Amino acid sequence: MKQAVKTVLLPIIRPFWRRLWFRVEGRVAPIETHLTSIENRLSPLDARTAQIEQAWQTHIPAFLNAMASVPAISYEVAALSKRLDDAFASFSQRADAAEARGENADAAIASLWERVEFVRREILFEFNHGSSGKSAADGAGLKKVEPQIVSTDKYEAARREKRLRLNLGSGHIALPDYINVDARPLPGVDVVADVGDLPFAERSVDEIFSAHLIEHFPLETMRRRLLPYWRSRLRPGGTFKVVTPDAAAMVQAAATGAMSFEDFREVTYGAQDYHGDYHFNLFTPDSLQVLLQEAGFKGISIPVAGRRNGKCFEFEIVGIAP
Ligand SMILES: C[S@@+](CC[C@H](N)C(=O)[O-])C[C@H]1O[C@@H](n2cnc3c(N)ncnc32)[C@H](O)[C@@H]1O
Repeated sequence: MKQAVKTVLLPIIRPFWRRLWFRVEGRVAPIETHLTSIENRLSPLDARTAQIEQAWQTHIPAFLNAMASVPAISYEVAALSKRLDDAFASFSQRADAAEARGENADAAIASLWERVEFVRREILFEFNHGSSGKSAADGAGLKKVEPQIVSTDKYEAARREKRLRLNLGSGHIALPDYINVDARPLPGVDVVADVGDLPFAERSVDEIFSAHLIEHFPLETMRRRLLPYWRSRLRPGGTFKVVTPDAAAMVQAAATGAMSFEDFREVTYGAQDYHGDYHFNLFTPDSLQVLLQEAGFKGISIPVAGRRNGKCFEFEIVGIAP
């Protein structure tokens, strides 16, 4: 180390020492300039930089202390030393303050953006679905439907026996133990109605089931209208069960080639075979669970995920009405 100081540092420092000795006045600026140039000269010495830096940090303060004890220049060297310390301290303070200001500004900007986004979504929702009184079917691109109970006997029997179970958006897959509800008067449909405007009283339904329906609605329609509405139809303790495409499984399957791009596209956007057969949304088990929680459903479980059903991967989620 001593050798390194002798061979590397002393030849560098000697000229400054001479300057200090002969020209005390006005040496602060030249020394600073030369310190920079020394740094520039040291920087290419990659392999030895760390060693030199260490020596620099150890010996320069010792050198300045020693010089400070020489009466002729002690005052100036002490002043130079102090200036360097002050400069470093003030730089650190400014850096800390700038960093703090930067963090605060980031937080302020992020919260402003959040607020702007919230207002934008509120305005858009009001604009599209708000006071116009449009039905949920409008969200799915269907015309407004007047509710009509087609299978009166089946419905009355289910109500009497207190096992009113609805299969919303039954389409061509009518289930025998359920009151099948669809906006289209297809064979097997027991109630022709908009799923957002059902002819059933509040807290009167034992179970609401739907398969491949909820992806037909925009997220905000689901969040603000349909989920609270369906919950309101269920009696306390009633079951809410949904089957829908499993976006998490589909993305993975598409990425690994287990699902073709065409199938991925069709399941994502809907088959688009008839008016209203368009998808507005995709869910993962996790994202739908959050929505059900927000809507107040309890005891949420996901009995099935990533199940192949034709072109699609689907999951099933169950929640209980409070
Ligand atoms: C993709 S199909 C699903 C059919 C069946 N549940 C299945 O699992 O294959 C969606 C069905 O929901 C119906 N539907 C879409 N929006 C509706 C709404 N707002 N009200 C009532 N039915 C709706 C459509 O008419 C269609 O029959």
